[in-house]
Amino acid sequence: MLFQLHGVVARRGGRVVLEGLDGAIGEGATCIVGPSGAGKSTLLRLLNRLADPDAGAISYRGRDLRDFDVLSLRREVALVPQLPALVEGSVSDNVRYGAQLAGRDPDVGRLLEIVGLGHSYAERPAARLSVGEQQRVMLARALALEPRALLLDEPTSALDHETKLAVEATLKQLREELEISLVFVTHDLLQTRRLGDCVLALRDGRLAGDRRPVGDGRPVGDGSSVGEGGLVGEGSSVGEGGLVGEGTGPA
Ligand SMILES: Nc1ncnc2c1ncn2[C@@H]1O[C@H](COP(=O)(O)OP(=O)(O)OP(=O)(O)O)[C@@H](O)[C@H]1O
Ligand SMILES: [Mg+2]
Repeated sequence: MLFQLHGVVARRGGRVVLEGLDGAIGEGATCIVGPSGAGKSTLLRLLNRLADPDAGAISYRGRDLRDFDVLSLRREVALVPQLPALVEGSVSDNVRYGAQLAGRDPDVGRLLEIVGLGHSYAERPAARLSVGEQQRVMLARALALEPRALLLDEPTSALDHETKLAVEATLKQLREELEISLVFVTHDLLQTRRLGDCVLALRDGRLAGDRRPVGDGRPVGDGSSVGEGGLVGEGSSVGEGGLVGEGTGPA
């Protein structure tokens, strides 16, 4: 199991945002959905210890997150944040940032190709890129760490349809060829169908619905219907050849 959550509580701004999440996130591609403010980004940040829960515990591949060296955990479980956070300098400086701290010298040109920007972007000032381009630089930066799992917070929210499909194809490839597991937040129902093996819905501080994680027969969350949550409207078909296994069929 990639992640397991046990009674995870998170408070933000004096309010309980996550009220005791129990559940599991399996290998493969897991979408996290839920209304704005539901705590999706908060949850993602807990998964690579950009923050720690106020109560409860999270394990990664069977080991408590608190037992990991934080920096090596963040290299193995890399986060692409919701808002790009580029450092001053060129695109190339930004893609290298992080990997170099880990003593690696990534192939920037190749990484830029993978995220659909191309070599020509390498020496451009990062600050002048569009938000969608910045998002892809952030993805390239995360990939430069050679992670085993990628946490993606609305990775295609600023992209046009064509570019979004191209990034989705990249993510699919990463998952299938490099066996990188993906946990990604999205508001895009069609994206959950194209890319997700499994969908978890956050609502009112809880996992309001669930999908059976890949390779695990046990339900997660409280077992209530995601369909009631509104965001994933076809709860009844999921798990019966719906979202699970969708990756192998036509989008
Ligand atoms: N540092 C913070 N200080 C105060 N409140 C915070 C902080 N971070 C998050 N929150 C609050 O916690 C709640 C959950 O925020 P979070 O960013 O996790 O939501 P989200 O589900 O990712 O929403 P969106 O879909 O809009 O990105 C929100 O009400 C937000 O205002
Ligand atoms: Mg968010």
